[in-house]
Amino acid sequence: MTWTRRHLLDVEDFTSADLDLILDRAQQLAERPSGARPGPDSLPGHRVALLFAEPSTRTRLSFEIAARNLGAETFVLDPPASSMVKGETLADTARNLGAMGFGSLVIRHRRWGAPWVTARHFPGSVINAGDGAHAHPTQALLDLLTLRRALKADSLTGRKVVIVGDLLHSRVARSNIWTLTADGADVAVCGPAGLLRGFDVVARRLPGRLFVTDDLSAALAGADAVMALRIQRERMSGAALSVGEYVGRYRIDEARMALAGPAARFLHPGPINEGVEVTREVATGPRSLVLEQVRNGVPIRMAVLALLAATTRQEKRDESSERR
Ligand code: CP
Repeated sequence: MTWTRRHLLDVEDFTSADLDLILDRAQQLAERPSGARPGPDSLPGHRVALLFAEPSTRTRLSFEIAARNLGAETFVLDPPASSMVKGETLADTARNLGAMGFGSLVIRHRRWGAPWVTARHFPGSVINAGDGAHAHPTQALLDLLTLRRALKADSLTGRKVVIVGDLLHSRVARSNIWTLTADGADVAVCGPAGLLRGFDVVARRLPGRLFVTDDLSAALAGADAVMALRIQRERMSGAALSVGEYVGRYRIDEARMALAGPAARFLHPGPINEGVEVTREVATGPRSLVLEQVRNGVPIRMAVLALLAATTRQEKRDESSERR
């Protein structure tokens, strides 16, 4: 299979072949000896702009490390200190970054669809680092890599993954549903009914593969992995239950992990509200893959940057040979 995508905006249409290609590349990059050059994936002179209009620790820093590991140069565009506060649009910002020779633009924005607007006006590759509650493609890819590595499996065929928490506001869940099911897993999404709104519509697109339930014990039965999502006090009004009630019914603790498979692993995209959606014991215990997820963010983002940049270079070569 040949990689032909120029942007990474969503993973909704990713096939298992797409996932294999990107995860295999990330795996190779992860296995290279420390300090070794990334060979054909190198991006010397390639400029990567990091435009984060929402806070981030893991995503922003791991994109920065990934780009530098490839020999690219990174530049941070801080929206509050940019001309965006003077009313410059995303489209204009994208055109200006293109004119300055940036090859990749990594964007996080609170508005759904902002990366698509940006991609229409940017001559290089746009990577969605999270748009509102809509999508977080590289998080889903690094979660999949983490699970495959932890389960020592080439795919998640026949596995079951439970995602529990505030689904309603989660871009991580909305991306993970597509990558996990495309890789063969069955997925159960679980939480208070008010935080599951809209997922019945998604489940109709994935018959027999995506299950929606507010019954945590039923969801956990036989699970290979449990992913908890952050609970925010200010967003609990949609859940029609208090944070205290949430903790009582849904917090992941050792007893609830025991309802899953005996070797079930725990994931969380971060940041964690310890004691709310998960106990410290589970989050930091032997079943936890939380720091593995963070580590895998770097090779996944290296693979994404390298693959997309290769497409842009190929498109430029094709254009110039057409002109000749
Ligand atoms: N998982 C994730 O997106 O974390 P950050 O918000 O710290 O980037």
